[in-house]
Amino acid sequence: MEAADFFRVSECKGQKTIDGEQVPLVLAPSDEGARSSGCEALVAALKANREWVEGKVVANSGVLLRGFDVRDAVEFNAVVEALGWPDIRYVGPAPRTHVHGRVWTANEGPLEEFTYYHHEMVLVRITKGGLVKLISSPSIFFACHCHFDQRSPLLTTKLGLMIDLDRSHAQIKEFPGKVILFCEVPPPSGGETPFVPSFRVTERALEEFPETVEELDARGLRYTFTALSKNDTKSMRGRGWEDAFATSDKAEAERRARALGMDVEWLPGGGGVRTVLGPRKLTRVFPGRKGRRMWFNTVVGMHGKELSSATLADGSEIPADFVRRCGEIIEEESIQFRWEKGDILILDNLATLHGRRPSLPPRRVLVATCK
Ligand SMILES: [Fe+2]
Repeated sequence: MEAADFFRVSECKGQKTIDGEQVPLVLAPSDEGARSSGCEALVAALKANREWVEGKVVANSGVLLRGFDVRDAVEFNAVVEALGWPDIRYVGPAPRTHVHGRVWTANEGPLEEFTYYHHEMVLVRITKGGLVKLISSPSIFFACHCHFDQRSPLLTTKLGLMIDLDRSHAQIKEFPGKVILFCEVPPPSGGETPFVPSFRVTERALEEFPETVEELDARGLRYTFTALSKNDTKSMRGRGWEDAFATSDKAEAERRARALGMDVEWLPGGGGVRTVLGPRKLTRVFPGRKGRRMWFNTVVGMHGKELSSATLADGSEIPADFVRRCGEIIEEESIQFRWEKGDILILDNLATLHGRRPSLPPRRVLVATCK
């Protein structure tokens, strides 16, 4: 079935028009689509129109499939498979549980926390021209995005390192291209998944701080995470480095960190270790996205926090007023919509930042991450 026969463009509260495009593009069943309703018909229509759907995801930065009565993880997995993008294993600090097939829980962190805006797996180390083996066994996965409420330093506990002892052969050669989210149980209040067209953040930052943006892009960024020692009774807020590196041997911890291209600095008095990652870009341009400069960094999320920092690659400070203003711009540019049961949101992960607002329970949003 032709896409135009099965889908119709609909609207949702909170959508925006950006650069002439509706964001997100809302696709609902057409009259004919509704007659053959149910997940099976959607799966068939997606399979038959993969290129068309991908074109919409890239052109509109996000597509919301609404009204197709997708009921559970099994049906959502069928939709993910139908879209045809290869799986990419999630690497990062969000606590996730495997549900079915390619489907995972999105984040089992406390619902009252705000998951700050990020591109999925923004900090993974990518090099051109081939696979980069990130991990040796036992594996250490570096935090790829940070989950915390920027208003409260107490919630920086989610920063840091994540260990995965099972995925000994994980290899990363590209950032995930698509993040697909499915709402199985919509929250009664809050719990939105706001997202932000990333290039708009760069555009607006350039309008206000052209020199700073260009300087940061040219000089590169450095991120640090501090993992305190579990033996330090004052450090209940942080994950201990022994957990982070899955060893209590300092030399082994250093070896594992360096295998990931990270430097480590031991803090005086046995207080823990600071891991240093960089240099990293402030913005990136990806093929097929109109040359847009994406705000592909976690400066706002990590700058000046208790257990993390973002600086220039040489360690010099990023101006605090610049970071604060960029945080405001991200919020102003964000798109909010209310989850409805059965919604599927397909985000172009190279073009959008996403987060999670605090929520009342229950809320169940599932995710699949794709190339
Ligand atoms: Fe995420």
